[in-house]
Amino acid sequence: MRAVVAARTGGDDPLANLEVGDVDEAVLRPGWAMVHFAAGSINHHDIWTLRGVSATPIVPPHVLGCDLAGSLFGYADDEVADDLPKPSSRVVVHGVVRCGHCVACRGEEAAPCRSARLFSETPVAGTFSDQVLVPAQNLIALPDSVRFDVAACLPTAYLTAYHMLFTRAALRPGMNVLVHGVSGGVASAAILLANLFGITVYATSRDEEKRALALELGATEAFAPARETARALIERTDGMGVDAVVETVGEPTWELSLRSVRAGGIVLVAGATGGLNPPAQLNRIFYRNVTVAGSSMGTLTELRHLVELCAPGRLKPLIGSTYPMELAEEGFREVLRGTARGKVVLI
Ligand SMILES: NC(=O)c1ccc[n+]([C@@H]2O[C@H](COP(=O)([O-])OP(=O)(O)OC[C@H]3O[C@@H](n4cnc5c(N)ncnc54)[C@H](OP(=O)(O)O)[C@@H]3O)[C@@H](O)[C@H]2O)c1
Ligand SMILES: [Zn+2]
Repeated sequence: MRAVVAARTGGDDPLANLEVGDVDEAVLRPGWAMVHFAAGSINHHDIWTLRGVSATPIVPPHVLGCDLAGSLFGYADDEVADDLPKPSSRVVVHGVVRCGHCVACRGEEAAPCRSARLFSETPVAGTFSDQVLVPAQNLIALPDSVRFDVAACLPTAYLTAYHMLFTRAALRPGMNVLVHGVSGGVASAAILLANLFGITVYATSRDEEKRALALELGATEAFAPARETARALIERTDGMGVDAVVETVGEPTWELSLRSVRAGGIVLVAGATGGLNPPAQLNRIFYRNVTVAGSSMGTLTELRHLVELCAPGRLKPLIGSTYPMELAEEGFREVLRGTARGKVVLI
């Protein structure tokens, strides 16, 4: 079957490690299901994998891809729970693969699985292949009104944004949030979702066109990620600073995040595309009672809610471009260069 793979990792050019080629057919095993690929969106995670930056080293060639929407072919097991989608259903797949046997998976501890993996993280194959094996419990039925390309945006970027805003930061209507890096998948999702739920959004981008895009997506105001922007944000928020910051850029925006957040506010960190190691500036954190919260992906229930928001068209994920899987390199180039307007989807 055809697949988008990391044929190598490391080096200076991640795209030189990307290939579209033939890989062995997937073989079903108990507890798992097989899905025919219809669409999957590219995430910066796929670029990290090509760079050789991953929690667990991969052994190339390894199939890339965290997100999947498609048609359910069937299950390994003859009998499955009644609430699981029936074969031939349209489905979207929750991207967190649980180990199934740690204390959290056994239900003895209310915490995430201790050794959860995303699709494409060893030993789990990624989703960019004609057929994809997925844990049966990760399947969510997709209403006919939600297109495959739309659903393919939800499992990583939109779920991460949703979990940050509403679970980690518990933002409510009337509050405000600062989002950096407007056109990134998580950032554009955060702007759309916060706006949908009555949260005032301020955004930053290095690029003037992307700042205009932020306003189109519902942000109240967009700024350059410059030092003076903190003062402007404090003015806009009655001298307080913002309730929360969605930080996925890292080094280039970290100081601005800490300067802009209000005393007692929260800086949510889900990524560091621009660099991992900014000066911590601990004084800005403890003196003003700021919470710095890591955030990773989200739950199956949260993904279901996102599907429910898309079904009547309340949430319309921003898709910048769509490519057939064979032209994956074009899509990866957009994500690498940061030129995409929102998500880049493979079909
Ligand atoms: N924790 C999780 O579960 C999770 C889930 C999804 C993503 N992530 C991580 O979150 C990050 C964002 O991922 P993504 O796929 O949404 O988007 P992305 O492709 O990483 O782009 C994010 C945005 O960052 C800005 N940016 C990039 N490099 C920059 C630099 N050097 N200086 C300033 N800004 C820069 C760009 O915005 P402008 O050009 O507008 O400034 C870009 O649009 C990644 O690091 C990814 O690994 C984590
Ligand atoms: Zn587990």
